[in-house]
Amino acid sequence: MPPVQSPETEHPETEHRAKVITFFQQKGGAGKSTDAVNVAAVLGENNPSADPDDPDCPCPVVAAGIDLQGSLEKWARKVPAKRLPFDYVVTRGRLGEIPDLVRDPSVRRIVVDTPGFADIDPEADLDAIDPLGKGPAAEAMREILDLTDLALVPIVPVETLTHDPAEYTVERLLRPRGIKFRMVINNWDSGTDRTKADLKDMQEWCNKRGYPYMPQAVRRYKLHAKAPEQGLTVIQYPESGTALRAREDFYKLALAVEGLI
Ligand SMILES: Nc1ncnc2c1ncn2[C@@H]1O[C@H](COP(=O)(O)OP(=O)(O)OP(=O)(O)O)[C@@H](O)[C@H]1O
Ligand SMILES: [Mg+2]
Repeated sequence: MPPVQSPETEHPETEHRAKVITFFQQKGGAGKSTDAVNVAAVLGENNPSADPDDPDCPCPVVAAGIDLQGSLEKWARKVPAKRLPFDYVVTRGRLGEIPDLVRDPSVRRIVVDTPGFADIDPEADLDAIDPLGKGPAAEAMREILDLTDLALVPIVPVETLTHDPAEYTVERLLRPRGIKFRMVINNWDSGTDRTKADLKDMQEWCNKRGYPYMPQAVRRYKLHAKAPEQGLTVIQYPESGTALRAREDFYKLALAVEGLI
């Protein structure tokens, strides 16, 4: 008869592993930070800390920024601590912090915002195993790539400057490592694209390459563009018609994320 396992050996603490959702896109400006903060906010609302009134009580959702500028922090610091539904860390390229978080038993989800990587190492050998080159920023990216459970690649309809870099991101960073990925059609101007022709073109672009995309596109709303300055995430948007529609996209996106991890 096999030995009866104690609960400790069935669920040793070392088995805990938070899920890591990371936004990657070689080109800046497609929406990595906007999408990362708002997905983290919705996931955080659904996974509240044990005592939301105690700012020292850890949140199960952590938003992490790994860029050297720490741009995530600029946004998160403007949101009053009591209204922030996630903890955040800004590693500024330091290694080891995200792996520690992944093993932290109080953490369930880590949403990572990465920098555009076109400028990480201008001397990089583009034929090498990946195009990141050398240096601390490249090492920080590789650390995150190794930990990522789901990669999300934002891409903007009509803005063709985001398209080739999205393809490059998938082909050079994600597919060679076998990382599960989804494209996120972001900043779609649904107000002018009434016939959805631009949206359909973007979906077709993904289909042609065999790139799966999230079912919900994130529409373009001024509210999203103003939110970092105002210290808001979607969960604090007002309960008005437009704000509800703007928020809805991120609720659907976060729901789809949960279904994939
Ligand atoms: N859905 C949206 N609606 C309105 N504005 C948006 C939307 N998504 C992104 N933006 C705006 O587009 C700009 C670029 O977005 P963001 O900073 O998130 O991109 P990024 O990929 O993080 O860029 P970088 O690589 O430079 O950090 C910002 O001004 C942001 O407010
Ligand atoms: Mg950014």
